Amino acid sequence: MRLKVGLVGLGEVAQLMHIPTLHKLQDRFELAAVHDVSPSVLAQVADHWKIEKRYGTAAALFADPEIDAVLILSPDQHHGEQARAAIAAGKHVFIEKPACLTAADLETLVAAEAASNRVVMVGYMRRFAPAFVAAKQELENFGPISYVRVRDVICEGPWFFNQTDTVVTPNGDIPAALIDESRALRKAMMDAMCGADAPAIVRRGYEVMTGLCSHSLSAMRDLLGSSPKRVIGAQLSQNGEQLTAMFDYGSFTAIYECLIDDIARFDAGIEVFSKNKRLHFRYNTPYLRNLPMTLEVQESTADSNLVRTLGPFHTDAFQIELEAFHSSITKGAPNRTPPSDSKEDIELFSKILAVAKSTLAG
Ligand SMILES: NC(=O)c1ccc[n+]([C@@H]2O[C@H](COP(=O)([O-])OP(=O)(O)OC[C@H]3O[C@@H](n4cnc5c(N)ncnc54)[C@H](O)[C@@H]3O)[C@@H](O)[C@H]2O)c1
Repeated sequence: MRLKVGLVGLGEVAQLMHIPTLHKLQDRFELAAVHDVSPSVLAQVADHWKIEKRYGTAAALFADPEIDAVLILSPDQHHGEQARAAIAAGKHVFIEKPACLTAADLETLVAAEAASNRVVMVGYMRRFAPAFVAAKQELENFGPISYVRVRDVICEGPWFFNQTDTVVTPNGDIPAALIDESRALRKAMMDAMCGADAPAIVRRGYEVMTGLCSHSLSAMRDLLGSSPKRVIGAQLSQNGEQLTAMFDYGSFTAIYECLIDDIARFDAGIEVFSKNKRLHFRYNTPYLRNLPMTLEVQESTADSNLVRTLGPFHTDAFQIELEAFHSSITKGAPNRTPPSDSKEDIELFSKILAVAKSTLAG
């Protein structure tokens, strides 16, 4: 079954990932309508991809009876409200991560989804990467875990995609009142989660946590089967762009390290150890599609040491998550990343933030 899809928000992730991916999956999706608050972005993206239906508001797109599903690709602070409006209009909804910035907004979204019979999926594409799925299978016969290392040590997307693509950005044509409203909404949400008097390092730290760390922390939870029992320690530095956190998983410890800087590399991944086994997979920048990904599994005995490499896999994680969204809608396949799943992430962010704030205070 081919689904008619509408997009809300046509920025980097829409232009670089979702639109080309929907185009590749033409047998399953028809990109039928778009909306962006920037008229110039709306016109240029719609012209480029030959999309006829261009809506001036998200509400108008949601009211289109021909649209089956929408992708919410707008800034984080608008996700909850737009997703609820789309659900109310009877649409299936895909929301880019983070589902919401605050626990309260997420709770309302979870309730709206529960009261509907629509598929609502959060875009944690790293959890759909073939190497990640293979790692989950390997862990079924791995033996007791002894240690876990998780990391995002990266520079930001433009360094990569400026070499391969052109992204159209608003040319100063977003109405000033909308910009002010959006900023005020984001500030109120940051105040609610960080505290109105939180220093800049804590605010930036929370932005990095919801923006970047959410990928790894949700993948860690999915891979290991649960959230950590406790945050042992957490420290923010570099104006909030460096976070180191240590998690208590009862019988083992997991460590997470995050750093955003200007060194051109994307070093993200997860490594899991047992007494005689190790598995490791590494994510590359999401902004270049179809980069290869491998899973390495090492097993040592008294007289042998075997390293197996699964992959390289080239199917892009963004494609697999949209295929999963389609299967959930058309075949009732399980939805692995509903908004209720994101509650555990936001709870963990809050715990990390609390420990990091107390560390700063000390
Ligand atoms: N999965 C990933 O790896 C990944 C990567 C990048 C971004 N994202 C997520 O995707 C979302 C968008 O990020 P981006 O990098 O594309 O941002 P961006 O700033 O490049 O683009 C945002 C677009 O939304 C438009 N916009 C602003 N307010 C809007 C509103 N109220 N309604 C509709 N459109 C609005 C802007 O004009 C702009 O074109 C964010 O939630 C981000 O966290 C995910």
